[in-house]
Amino acid sequence: MVSDTTKHYPVLLNEIISIITPQHGGTFIDCTFGQGGYTKKILSFRDTKVIGFDRDIQSKKKADLILDKFKQRFIFKNKKFSQLEDLKLKNENIRGVIFDLGYSYTQIKDPAKGLSFSFTGDLNMKMGLNDFSAEDVINKLSIKELEKIFKFFGEEKEGKKIAFNIVKERSKKKIDTKSLVELIEKVKRKKNFKIHSATKVFQALRIFVNKEISELIYGLIAASKVLKKDGVLAVVTFHSLEDKIVKYFFKTLSENKSISRYVPKISQPETLFRMIEKKPKTPLPKELKENPPSRSAKLRYIIKKDESYDFETDVMKKFGYLLEVENFGNKLWKKFQLSA
Ligand SMILES: C[S@@+](CC[C@H](N)C(=O)[O-])C[C@H]1O[C@@H](n2cnc3c(N)ncnc32)[C@H](O)[C@@H]1O
Repeated sequence: MVSDTTKHYPVLLNEIISIITPQHGGTFIDCTFGQGGYTKKILSFRDTKVIGFDRDIQSKKKADLILDKFKQRFIFKNKKFSQLEDLKLKNENIRGVIFDLGYSYTQIKDPAKGLSFSFTGDLNMKMGLNDFSAEDVINKLSIKELEKIFKFFGEEKEGKKIAFNIVKERSKKKIDTKSLVELIEKVKRKKNFKIHSATKVFQALRIFVNKEISELIYGLIAASKVLKKDGVLAVVTFHSLEDKIVKYFFKTLSENKSISRYVPKISQPETLFRMIEKKPKTPLPKELKENPPSRSAKLRYIIKKDESYDFETDVMKKFGYLLEVENFGNKLWKKFQLSA
């Protein structure tokens, strides 16, 4: 099949369905509703309910279409998934919580969102419910702060030089998408033919503007609390930073730390989740052909063993350095508030 480049394909849909088994009914939380690809499939099974989250208000149009058909079985929330715990879900039989991270084709191709370096226009990158835009970041943060954002969120090796040139350039004129791309291209004279020179800086800005790291960490913690026994927590990631966080989180919640080989297994603390497959699932050749952008997708999942909410994960400690970088934005937001 030839891929249709104007439509969003739900990534790893068959794999998600085989893991969460909606044919047995129950309530599912689609944390990244998007175009409703997963939600529609789940609702096609009897006795299912879906609570869909999306921070982008544009998703509401798709959600309204689904609501027309499934009024009794579907709820849509235009909220960030880190707010999952605000819902009163005590009496719901939550059998699955799914995250399909990243953004849909329609969002990437929307010039107003300014996610792609192929468009000219203002640097925006706000996906919805944001405190500041990429323009605020580029035009207001210090060299050191920009350098750290590019390094930690984009793994950009030339981050220091790029940050220096941004600060030099912005004293002369406002930086927009086009001038940022030109500036990066000038710094990175050595071409990498696999990816565009601006890819890493744009990824870093998008992660920073949307606070994707804290969203993911708080979202995962909330999801692991609301699931019922035998419920599945499934996450599709698209870049190594996301995958590193998910992998670590799943590992700490499902692996017994070996205290000592002399201590009998029985006295070790029970884990909250169980991991069936250590290796992530990735798209099959058929899906790759139909939807080439799915090539970087990785699906990991764990299954809840226990209903207890009392668990510990050192994920905050482990990734605290990333949260610190993200916090540069708080200052920016306060500045923005004062000048608004
Ligand atoms: C890859 S798309 C999901 C596509 C969806 N699975 C489908 O089949 O149509 C990811 C969606 O998650 C949303 N999103 C990203 N981060 C979010 C967050 N922190 N809270 C809520 N929604 C978020 C984006 O706005 C986007 O619509």
